[in-house]
Amino acid sequence: MTDRVSLRPAEMKDAETLFIWRNDLETRKASHNSDEVIFESHLIWLDASLSNPSKRLLWIAEVGGEAIGTCRADLAENVWELSWTIAPEARGKGFAHQMLSKLVHSFDEPLVAQVKGDNIVSMKVAERAGFVLDKQENGVLFYVYPDTPSIAD
Ligand SMILES: CC(C)(COP(=O)(O)OP(=O)(O)OC[C@H]1O[C@@H](n2cnc3c(N)ncnc32)[C@H](O)[C@@H]1OP(=O)(O)O)[C@@H](O)C(=O)NCCC(=O)NCCS
Repeated sequence: MTDRVSLRPAEMKDAETLFIWRNDLETRKASHNSDEVIFESHLIWLDASLSNPSKRLLWIAEVGGEAIGTCRADLAENVWELSWTIAPEARGKGFAHQMLSKLVHSFDEPLVAQVKGDNIVSMKVAERAGFVLDKQENGVLFYVYPDTPSIAD
């Protein structure tokens, strides 16, 4: 597949796009917190997220200059946890796979990801990017990349 996805840091100008993606039903189902978010809270969240790059990194994935997805990395105890979303209209085209495969190579620290047990597509995305299943708890799959010791250890 042609490598078409590029990544850039998210900015405040992406607020509306990220807001729409966050409140998409499939995104909410895949999230730990599936509540609908209101725009004011989203703006506060985004502003705080962009202000703390030593703890949180946020990217916009683009194809031909159009935003098609986002990936977030949260640092806790020297381990980055990745999470991702592709715009509803851009799903099923291999973009998540391209986005994640690019990102995993840009970290020196260990990576982890959590995927809900019914999110088969996201499991495929994680595994194709090189994540390996570490454990399953309460319907959530915990992935590590590539051989990170279990965060529970
Ligand atoms: C999960 C998500 C990121 C996948 O993005 P995507 O760009 O559509 O995924 P891809 O096109 O790269 O497809 C990934 C794999 O799933 C398969 N797939 C895609 N859509 C599918 C579908 N509807 N049913 C079954 N398989 C599907 C693809 O064929 C591909 O499999 P392969 O690796 O064997 O080729 C996207 O659906 C999404 O944003 N969902 C809502 C939010 C979410 O679930 N985020 C992840 C939280 S952990």
